[in-house]
Amino acid sequence: MRCSQRLIVLLIATSLCVSAASNTWKKKDKKTKAQREANLCTMEGNAAALHCVCVGGAPPVNTTSAECWIFTGVSKDHSIWSLFATQPHINQLKILVRPQGLFTFIPTKGLRHLYHLKELQITYANINEIHPYAFANSSSLRELTLARNQIVTLDHHAFAHLTNLTDLSLEENRIAEIKRDVFVDLPKLQKLFAAHNNLSVIQEGAFRQLAHLLELELDTNYISVLTRDTFTGLGELKKLDLSYNKIRMLGDLTFSELWVLEELNLEHNQIELIANRAFAGLNHLRKLTLSHNRLAVLSGGLLGGVPTIIHLDLRSNNLETITYDSVQPIIHNLRNESSYFYIAGKKFISGELFREEAEARTVWHT
Ligand SMILES: *[C@@H]1O[C@H](CO)[C@@H](O)[C@H](O)[C@H]1NC(C)=O
Ligand SMILES: *[C@@H]1O[C@H](CO)[C@@H](O)[C@H](O)[C@H]1NC(C)=O
Ligand SMILES: *[C@@H]1O[C@H](CO)[C@@H](O)[C@H](O)[C@H]1NC(C)=O
Ligand SMILES: *[C@@H]1O[C@H](CO)[C@@H](O)[C@H](O)[C@H]1NC(C)=O
Ligand SMILES: *[C@@H]1O[C@H](CO)[C@@H](O)[C@H](O)[C@H]1NC(C)=O
Repeated sequence: MRCSQRLIVLLIATSLCVSAASNTWKKKDKKTKAQREANLCTMEGNAAALHCVCVGGAPPVNTTSAECWIFTGVSKDHSIWSLFATQPHINQLKILVRPQGLFTFIPTKGLRHLYHLKELQITYANINEIHPYAFANSSSLRELTLARNQIVTLDHHAFAHLTNLTDLSLEENRIAEIKRDVFVDLPKLQKLFAAHNNLSVIQEGAFRQLAHLLELELDTNYISVLTRDTFTGLGELKKLDLSYNKIRMLGDLTFSELWVLEELNLEHNQIELIANRAFAGLNHLRKLTLSHNRLAVLSGGLLGGVPTIIHLDLRSNNLETITYDSVQPIIHNLRNESSYFYIAGKKFISGELFREEAEARTVWHT
């Protein structure tokens, strides 16, 4: 009895020992193998600071698309960034930060190995500041999405030399100011989205190098002042969204360089005053939204600057009176079937087009 029990114990012990030994051996082998074939796409799971799932192309070799998760803190100079050199064919890269991960910078050291990168997205990081040349002067990059990273400061040349970039999204950060030398050498930029930030200052000439920009979204910020040089250089802009800001007045020639602008959204500001020539130069404007402001008068010459308007929204202002003269320059546009003209106020004077209408929305067609 005793003897056979001992034998069993011995057997179990031996087998435990053997399996432990074989485990150690396996682990050792894996590690040396991993070291030998260090590759961004085959790094071991949660132990690494960064874990990339490679999907496009033929992973683990020459992958074209990678989604990398940041699990812990990782430094700017960590050796892991040199592993991007093992996947030079990546054209689409997403970097996503897990809640417990801490990621405070743009990984310039990794990006400079990616000569074919076209789309880069970084989300849920905690990047206080974007440094000069952070994107490694990438000439292949076309779309850059940096929403929700708690960005506060854009340094000068932050996006410099991104010569093929067409779309830049900076939404939902805490950017406070747009300085003059941030958006330089971006000759192909067409869309710039900076809504939902903490913007109160836009330096004059901040967009002057964005000659081919088509859309600019600056809504839901704290912008209160616009000058005639705020939008200098935006000669091809078609759409400008300044809604949900703190703008109080619009001075003469504020938009005068926006020769081909078609849509201007200024709703939900605090505009009390619009200078007579504020809209001068907007010869292609079709849609002007001024609802939810504090306008009390619509001066005579104002709409003369925007002869092509077919959509005009003036709801929720303090307009007591609108004279025929003030809308006369655009009256003929209202014959267009697709036009609309929203006004809600207390009293409208003269012209068969206008009748008294309180509250809510009013649509006139002719
Ligand atoms: C990876 O791309 C290189 C060219 O950059 C090519 O020479 C090589 O054959 C490719 N490897 C695979 C497995 O597709
Ligand atoms: C980008 O260009 C600037 C000069 O224009 C240079 O100082 C910087 O080192 C370049 N960065 C990279 C990563 O190539
Ligand atoms: C930039 O874009 C053009 C086409 O729009 C392309 O021919 C060129 O190769 C791109 N440059 C780089 C470095 O990818
Ligand atoms: C927004 O900017 C103001 C200064 O204009 C600053 O006092 C405030 O702390 C900023 N808020 C955030 C969330 O960064
Ligand atoms: C009405 O407006 C549309 C869109 O701007 C335009 O294409 C069309 O020519 C206009 N029609 C008339 C009769 O002016």
